[in-house]
Amino acid sequence: MVREWDPRSSSAAELESILLCLNGVIAVDLPDDPPWQVTSFREYLAVTMPGERRVCWVAEENPGDMEAGKPLLGHANILLFGDIGVVEVLVHPRARRGHVGTTLLETATLRAYDEGFSSIGVEVVGDTPAVQFYESLGFRCAFLEMRSVLQLSDVDWLVLGEMARGIGSGYRVDYYPDGLPDEVLETYAVAKQVVRDDGDLELHPSSYDAERLRASVSTLAARGMKPYIVVAIHERTGSVAGLTEVVVPATHPTRADQYDTIVVPEHRGYGIGRAIKARMLFELRSAEPSLREVQTWNAPENESMLKVNSELGFKPDREWREYEAEVPYLVSRLKR
Ligand SMILES: CC(C)(COP(=O)(O)OP(=O)(O)OC[C@H]1O[C@@H](n2cnc3c(N)ncnc32)[C@H](O)[C@@H]1OP(=O)(O)O)[C@@H](O)C(=O)NCCC(=O)NCCS
Repeated sequence: MVREWDPRSSSAAELESILLCLNGVIAVDLPDDPPWQVTSFREYLAVTMPGERRVCWVAEENPGDMEAGKPLLGHANILLFGDIGVVEVLVHPRARRGHVGTTLLETATLRAYDEGFSSIGVEVVGDTPAVQFYESLGFRCAFLEMRSVLQLSDVDWLVLGEMARGIGSGYRVDYYPDGLPDEVLETYAVAKQVVRDDGDLELHPSSYDAERLRASVSTLAARGMKPYIVVAIHERTGSVAGLTEVVVPATHPTRADQYDTIVVPEHRGYGIGRAIKARMLFELRSAEPSLREVQTWNAPENESMLKVNSELGFKPDREWREYEAEVPYLVSRLKR
């Protein structure tokens, strides 16, 4: 019933079948989220950063169901990097509580075990069955964030304009529509290092040197995810004092994803965070006319970011948890 599946060589019918499963899950678990589109979906699954690999599986009722356009029971994938595997397990709502999820997770865990990976992490949406599922299998919650969503139709653009201009003297805000210029890359990478010690499990490892940053930007593009970057430059030194990154994915272009927002500690208290995020919204509004919403994730203790987000009009939406488990422990729990 479960078989390995390669998005690079799959047919359009198979991709469509995975997408139907994903959208079935979204409709039930996250009914306010936009459904995903097929544009760049293959690339989204197939392309990874250098040094990372994604292995995918599908669960069909009978072999060949997927190719024949019959509904898929579930899908799983694991992204392998360093000594960690990050899993995603999706079971179509009509196939739930039949241990399809357990079988998919078991398959991914055994692959991680056979390849010598030590732990497995997973992002779990609060208030959905996935919480009980992973807890019942022995995963523990290691990190908790809150997702917030901003409706662009709710933005007061006049007030936002004041926020964008409200930055201490000695700084300028730059937007790079054609990607990061080479002269900014090094100092940008230095600023990114600031978030490395924030306690996150690093399920999305941040890019912290110029080379990795370049690879990260080209990987995003290859996965159909368009990055937007706004920075605050400290004019005296020319260094990056703050940065904010938003990605518009071709798979759900009406809802953008906020990535990192960082203000380097010695530049905090000058209105940089608010100004760069406000400027970003102006740039998104003019560059992406079909964009309706922006979503962001923050730790509850990150009070300054939560305050800025609330001033911009973000509304808390869902808890987002990161769970983890050691691979040998999981293997001993899940039947071989
Ligand atoms: C989490 C998920 C994978 C579970 O799949 P499943 O096939 O229904 O899970 P299983 O049948 O293997 O359940 C295994 C155990 O998990 C627990 N569990 C699963 N669903 C549960 C629920 N709704 N309530 C309570 N416990 C639950 C139970 O202990 C269950 O064992 P039991 O049925 O013998 O009591 C599935 O609900 C899913 O796809 N959720 C969406 C996940 C996701 O990524 N969402 C984000 C994108 S929108």
